[in-house]
Parts: sequence; structure tokens; C-alpha cells
Amino acid sequence: MNKFRPEANFVQGLSGDFIGKHNLFRMVREFARYSNIDNGYYMEFGIMNGDTAITAYRNLRGYVNHIYGFDTFSGHPEQKKTDQIHPEYAPYFFQGNYAAVSDEFCKKNIAAATLLDSNNIHLFKGEFSNTLQSFEKSQLNDKGFPICILVDCDLYSSAKEVFDFLTDICQTGTWLLIDDYWCYRGDPKLGVRKAFDDWIETNPRIGVSFYCNFNAYSRAYICHEK
Ligand SMILES: C[S@@+](CC[C@H](N)C(=O)[O-])C[C@H]1O[C@@H](n2cnc3c(N)ncnc32)[C@H](O)[C@@H]1O
Repeated sequence: MNKFRPEANFVQGLSGDFIGKHNLFRMVREFARYSNIDNGYYMEFGIMNGDTAITAYRNLRGYVNHIYGFDTFSGHPEQKKTDQIHPEYAPYFFQGNYAAVSDEFCKKNIAAATLLDSNNIHLFKGEFSNTLQSFEKSQLNDKGFPICILVDCDLYSSAKEVFDFLTDICQTGTWLLIDDYWCYRGDPKLGVRKAFDDWIETNPRIGVSFYCNFNAYSRAYICHEK
């Protein structure tokens, strides 16, 4: 058993005192309903076994009709130099941690829990540096609105690739959930927070409005086109 497991369980319990993912996805649903968004997709970067995608779909059923998930499915990749500054601030982040059972398991898990047609569950296995480069964005053209996007990949280098990829995907009204915003002791120079802040400052197309913190380490934003 992973030596960090007991603490991980503690964080799960702690999260119940905050706005949890379940309630946040309920708000995303209400927002979609009230904003004339009736058909679209959910994306998750770092989907692992699909557990959060299941929670998302259960709350967004009838609005979300496709799930896109990206992961190595073998856990964290080798860290880049930019991920190795103050590793002691984020001891859960090391190569191979958070390995999924498998991509097939993830798909079956989501299909069984949501009854979503497995043709509508799109999983991309490998490091983002490969899967995002080769992803055909035109396949999204007939999938409706990007309703909700969860970035849950822990590392600066991973998140940087994801945000660059998202610049021409997000639209006005897309919810962008940043899972690891407060990791690395909240240091704005590190981790997913740094990748997100840099992207917001430099990308030419997308701005965000802060909505709330949730689930202890996470933040929710609503995108707009600049
Ligand atoms: C904390 S886990 C995700 C948990 C999952 N979102 C959930 O809620 O159940 C982080 C995931 O990010 C993935 N990941 C991190 N960097 C990646 C990269 N560069 N390419 C692909 N996957 C990556 C890991 O494999 C891991 O599954």
C-alpha cells in the first residue's frame, strides 16, 4: 500500500467540508440550463479510472453526451526540470503515482456507471506531449459545446501542454476546473497554478472569471472569449 494512502483518505474526508465536485457539477448543470447550452461534451486531462468523469456525467446527463479523457493510464510521467523545484512541497507527485488500472478498465467503469454508449467515451492513452499533438480537433465539430473541462494532471509541465491545447477549444461559458491549484504549498511560482496563470496572461483568446474554490485544492472558473 502506498505510504501516502492514509493521508489521501484524510483529504477525501476533509473535502466534504468544502464545496465538493458533486455540488459543483450540479451548478454546471444549472448554468448550462440557464445559459441555453443543451448538448456538448466533458473533457478530463488526467482521467485515471474515470471516477470523476462518472460524477460529472451523473450530474450533467442530458447536457453532456460525450466524454473525452486523456491519461498515460500508467501514472505520472517522468518529471521535467520545471516539475522538480521543491519536490518536498508535493510529495505525492512522483513518476508512476496515480496509475490507473488500465484504459480499458476506465472505459468500462464509465460505461457501466453511466450507461453512456461506449462509442461516446473517447479515451486517449499516452503522454499529453503525444496525444494532444495528434488529436484531431475537427472531431469536436459535431459534438456540441465544451460544457466542462477538468484539468487534473498535477504537474507544471503536463498542465502547460493542456492549457496550450485548450486555447482554441474553450468558449464563452465553458467551465474550466483546475484540480491542483493550491498544491505546492500554494506557491504561485510552481505547479498547475503557475501553468494556468501564465496561460491566462499570454494566450490571445481566452479569459476566465473565478467562480469558487472546491474540493480543498481546486478552483472553478468560467471562460470567456476575449
Ligand atoms: C490525480 S490523478 C487524476 C485523478 C482523476 N482525475 C480522478 O479524479 O479520479 C493525475 C493523473 O494525471 C495523469 N498525468 C499527469 N501528467 C500526465 C501527462 N503528461 N500525460 C498524461 N497523463 C498525465 C496521471 O497519469 C494521473 O492519472
